[in-house]
Amino acid sequence: MQKYIIEPIKELKGEIEVDGAKNGILPILAASLLSTEPCVIHRVPSLKDVSVMLEIIRHVGAKVERNANSLNITVPEIKDSEAPYKYVSQMRSSFDVMGPLLARTGLARVPLPGGCAIGERPIDLHLKGFKALGAEVEFGHGFVQAKADKLVGADIYLDFPSVGATKNIMMAATMAEGVTIIENAAKEPEIVDLAIFLNKMGAKISGSGTQTIRITGVDELKGCEHSTLPDRIEAGTFLIMGAMHKSNLLVKNVVPNHLKPVIAKLIECGVTIEEEGDDLRVINDGKINAVDITTLPYPGFPTDLQAPFMALLCLADGNSTILETVFENRFSHVSELNRMGAQIKIEGHSATIKGTTKLQSADVKATDLRAGAALVLAALAADGATTIHEIHHIDRGYNELEKKLRNLGISISRV
Ligand code: UD1
Repeated sequence: MQKYIIEPIKELKGEIEVDGAKNGILPILAASLLSTEPCVIHRVPSLKDVSVMLEIIRHVGAKVERNANSLNITVPEIKDSEAPYKYVSQMRSSFDVMGPLLARTGLARVPLPGGCAIGERPIDLHLKGFKALGAEVEFGHGFVQAKADKLVGADIYLDFPSVGATKNIMMAATMAEGVTIIENAAKEPEIVDLAIFLNKMGAKISGSGTQTIRITGVDELKGCEHSTLPDRIEAGTFLIMGAMHKSNLLVKNVVPNHLKPVIAKLIECGVTIEEEGDDLRVINDGKINAVDITTLPYPGFPTDLQAPFMALLCLADGNSTILETVFENRFSHVSELNRMGAQIKIEGHSATIKGTTKLQSADVKATDLRAGAALVLAALAADGATTIHEIHHIDRGYNELEKKLRNLGISISRV
């Protein structure tokens, strides 16, 4: 088990670059299973989750060549419609391969997915979509199986705008007969990027980024070339990091529009955010106002930045509250932040954070990916060296984090 030892910093100055989006690239890798022709994808981050998805698509038949940050993926045939447990159990978004496998071969067998322990995270909406398209869905021996002689377009209403279900249904419907309409679809930028990728492959998808997505089935999909969009969660993490200190930090390669709710809350905290083309500059004098936050599906405040923002609010002047409405159990970072001297109380889905002037160094544990990011931020504002255990969670979603932080003069070592 590897751990980080992180020394605090007083001031933060310089530049930090954002990589391609983890949540953007994963469904795109799955979508490459839809064609026999090569797909070339650029700006692919070297993340643990990306490696896991590549192992899954290789297992089912993909040939993958890597050239620096670009991938060339060809899937001449699907050799196995079953995704292996040893990979799927590591990452919930492995389930993204279900839609493409079903669309291409009429059969998909995927073990019930693993991933971050942030609540129950059911897959009923994905399955509701597959069934509506005409698939027979069965459970057995830890697997979900979807099978169909042919898929036929349908009107599908999602009870919640699930990101995963929207992606999976969109991919499954690309080659269905007729028109599929997804109502109450997720509007996240990663959904829009997936639709752009699928349309480059020859799919006919309109309305992505709105609550109604319309997919007109086509006979086959071809290869294409695409660049992954910048990771808004990584960008948000760095902006929050800047806000926690006396700082003048340029966060490079972002889409400011994707970060509107985060920027709005940082400004409410008293932080200055300046847009410089594709970069955002965060400037602060070290003072932070208390604010209240409610996590919501996009374009609301992202649940993935709830934990990092809580680390910031630990240092605010006054009491803040955070209401988590997307996941039912996403406060595992609270006990760890409290070990560092934070004063956070949880009541149901709501956390009250009483601001303090300094956090304390301690031994803490990353309990999931974004909880881990919150602890890295807290460690930088502590009164001594902090040890963060179980950092494999952080490796799932932050590319070259140590290198990026060291470039800013931060002392971080992996043991
Ligand atoms: C994706 C992101 C994750 C982010 C989340 C919400 C990826 C790889 N992961 O996760 O980082 O935190 O969106 O923005 O893109 N739900 C159901 N039934 C379903 C599916 C979901 O009830 O069939 C519920 C979940 O339990 C959860 C909520 O819907 O409470 C949101 O889940 P969803 O939007 O599907 O998130 P993921 O796609 O898993």
